Amino acid sequence: MFDLIIKNGTCFTPNGRQQLDIGIQQGKITALAPTLAEQQSNQTIDAQNLHVLPGVIDSQVHFREPGNEHKEDLATGTMAAALGGVTAIFEMPNTNPATTSVAALNDKLQRAEGRAWCDYAFFIGGTPEDSNWHQLESLPGCSGIKIFMGSSTGNLLVEQDDAIRAILQRSQRRCAVHCEDEPRLRERKHIAEEGQHPRFHPEWRDIETAFLATQRLLKIARECHHPVHVLHVTTAKEMALLAQNKDIATVEVTPQHLTLTDSAYEEIGTFAQMNPPIRSETQQIALWEAVANGTVDVVGSDHAPHTREEKSKPYPESPAGMPGVQTLVPIMLNHVNNGKLTLERFVDLTASGPARIYNIANKGRIALGYDADFTIVDMQKRVVIDNDWIVSKCAWTPYHGMSVQGWPLHTIIRGNTVMLDGELQSQPIGEAVRFIGIV
Ligand code: DOR
Repeated sequence: MFDLIIKNGTCFTPNGRQQLDIGIQQGKITALAPTLAEQQSNQTIDAQNLHVLPGVIDSQVHFREPGNEHKEDLATGTMAAALGGVTAIFEMPNTNPATTSVAALNDKLQRAEGRAWCDYAFFIGGTPEDSNWHQLESLPGCSGIKIFMGSSTGNLLVEQDDAIRAILQRSQRRCAVHCEDEPRLRERKHIAEEGQHPRFHPEWRDIETAFLATQRLLKIARECHHPVHVLHVTTAKEMALLAQNKDIATVEVTPQHLTLTDSAYEEIGTFAQMNPPIRSETQQIALWEAVANGTVDVVGSDHAPHTREEKSKPYPESPAGMPGVQTLVPIMLNHVNNGKLTLERFVDLTASGPARIYNIANKGRIALGYDADFTIVDMQKRVVIDNDWIVSKCAWTPYHGMSVQGWPLHTIIRGNTVMLDGELQSQPIGEAVRFIGIV
């Protein structure tokens, strides 16, 4: 007797696309067969004409709790994730207080319990002071250490090579890094202040700012023999360098850098402002080449909500960041339909990729014994993305008015149907993600 059978779907397994029925018991995949029609089940989902993908893992979101719950909290952020077809999220440490202690990590884990609509893990913030990161990063529910080499929202910053080296030398896990060179940001801040328009954002935080930091990081990573994950890469120059360093570095791109270009500053102004910036079409073409040639390991949303009021401040007082956890799947499926990537590559970037680089236990593939996490999508469905659909507290999206084809229909997490036909179901059943080697 199964708890749930998903029948008639086109499933994406390690063997490729297959017509399979999936049997689920106690939150795990326990049967994969051409048909389970003869089998009993408490619940059945008919996935005829749908694609059944391994649950999408968004490994970079900012959910603002504690400290800035007026922008987002763990309940609304995970709700947005589940509605958008995301089954697990990794949350960033630039909250208030920042997640730099056992107490702060445990506080987040407690807050998430009973309120999270999807599975979750939290990053520890690297700091220049010795905060015992190497002990913190091995606690259950922690996805690793995040280092900000350039300052962004919040006050986490590790600017000096020695301080970065100290973290990498003692860390046991792949470190996630925001690469922008702080001294160059300081030197060039006047460009933003004098420019007074977000179109100056990519000039202030220019290609060299990103490249210098990534170059410094790779040198240190190699000295320390320690793997790093370079978040939200935005430039051709970084991609070329990263392609030569795949033994030590993995790479993330965001849907917004793959979708928006610098014309967005004229169209939506400060709402297009994020760090590192949205850049020119030339840079975007290089990002797509890096998706095609395998340099990129992961797509993460960098969901970074701020209210409309905050975003409406005059540049550069306006905060950087835009929401994205709810739109990651639709935007990327639309790119699949436009021939920019295959659905297989989408699965690699959103499920197998995060699982591989972060050593996630039991997630990221449709296989026996794995968590029954699925993002079931309708590749035919056309929707115009609307601010009204956004359940994040900020209630806006840079994609308002955009017509997309390809849509998440159901979100299933450890056998629980959390979203069905666009409606949230049941309860917030999210649990901490588990990692291989961490108990
Ligand atoms: O634009 C950004 N916003 N980039 C970051 O690195 C942080 C984020 C935020 O937390 O607002």
